[in-house]
Amino acid sequence: MNPAGTTASGTAGARPPAAQPLTVSQPYLIQQNWDDYSEEQHAVWAELVRRRMPQLREHAAEEYLNGFEQIGLREDTIPNLADVNRRLGPRTGWNATPVSGFLPPDAFFEMLGARQFPTTTYIRSRESMEYTPEPDIFHDVFGHVPMHAHPVFADFLQHYGRVSATLMHDKDKLERMGRLFWFTVEFGVIRQKGKIRLYGSGLISSHGEGTHVIEGRPEIRDFNLDQILDQQFLVSEEQKVLYAVESFDQIYEAAQEAEKRLC
Ligand SMILES: [Fe+2]
Repeated sequence: MNPAGTTASGTAGARPPAAQPLTVSQPYLIQQNWDDYSEEQHAVWAELVRRRMPQLREHAAEEYLNGFEQIGLREDTIPNLADVNRRLGPRTGWNATPVSGFLPPDAFFEMLGARQFPTTTYIRSRESMEYTPEPDIFHDVFGHVPMHAHPVFADFLQHYGRVSATLMHDKDKLERMGRLFWFTVEFGVIRQKGKIRLYGSGLISSHGEGTHVIEGRPEIRDFNLDQILDQQFLVSEEQKVLYAVESFDQIYEAAQEAEKRLC
């Protein structure tokens, strides 16, 4: 079964860009102003990408690497989001939408529900190449956006946003849904050709976190929604437990199942 019944397998031109107006998130929307990036900022992007790609070519999920090519990311310059969206929009209807920084949960979920990924435009400085507490364009675009070109992942992420938006009144349920996001979108791994491969943005965009997984340090469990909804995690430490899917259909089905249980 193709759970992504509303897409046509990502065929170019299959889905027009989302048209829903954003209301809650409106105050956070900005322009990218790509021409204002300095040579130094492009050089930081290039260094970050060059550092990650050798490991990712061997250890990232095929879907991530395909998405990287499909949306036209380059190793030498910070992406122009308008160019990314010209390629991404016709594939899955997703857009990388520039925002001013962290969003409150209701604004974040509204954007996901509208297939608009909140994307920071700032890039970290050379002094914080390995880790930045604030999200930046390297984490958001290099780490997240290539997966949005995959039709099943694309449908999963929108559904996740829509379900979470209905749970705003219930802190406990929202926290449980947040764990599904953490162990998929941020720290997800998949088994492909007998190996663990990375697809979560926290693993893709961090050399330390990616290496930690490749060296076999976290316990890798089979994907299990019940366990994930109960699994505590610490944002500030390397992850001790991760959950591996066999295919992205599993996370789509998990979001459907979570909706049944929590809504
Ligand atoms: Fe992230």
